[in-house]
Amino acid sequence: MKLLIVNGVNLNMLGKRDSAHYGTFTLTQLNREIRKYARGKGIKTAFVQSNCEGRLVGYLQKCKADGVILNAGAYTHYSYALRDCIADMKVEVVEVHLSDIYNREEFRKTDVLRDVVSKVYYGEKQYSYFKAVDYFAAKGE
Ligand code: DQA
Repeated sequence: MKLLIVNGVNLNMLGKRDSAHYGTFTLTQLNREIRKYARGKGIKTAFVQSNCEGRLVGYLQKCKADGVILNAGAYTHYSYALRDCIADMKVEVVEVHLSDIYNREEFRKTDVLRDVVSKVYYGEKQYSYFKAVDYFAAKGE
């Protein structure tokens, strides 16, 4: 099984963002931990990140992996373009967030992707991603 991990807007700034919400890992460190965790379950991983909505749509449209783990960043809260794209996908998408989007500012409680993804894990920093890996690992069993 191969998973594509897609990180969206501002996630390239991890390590410099508010550590209380996002932890202390840089994106490179986070990806390394996810790769290690997935490898332990026999799952291959590929990683992409973009700050551009259209580029994220492109990655999803071209996806050849068996599943996608997506942290769309702030696009989560208003991108109907990403929502439409995911709704048309054959590959399952699991949404993740490092922070607890339901216990922060009001605007973060709006999640326009929620209805078109298979599952959402949030509020557990890197463990949100690990849980998404577990979700796909369980499907592959
Ligand atoms: C985030 C939560 C979003 O609200 C925020 O805009 C981000 C990161 C998270 O991983 O907690 O950039 O998706």
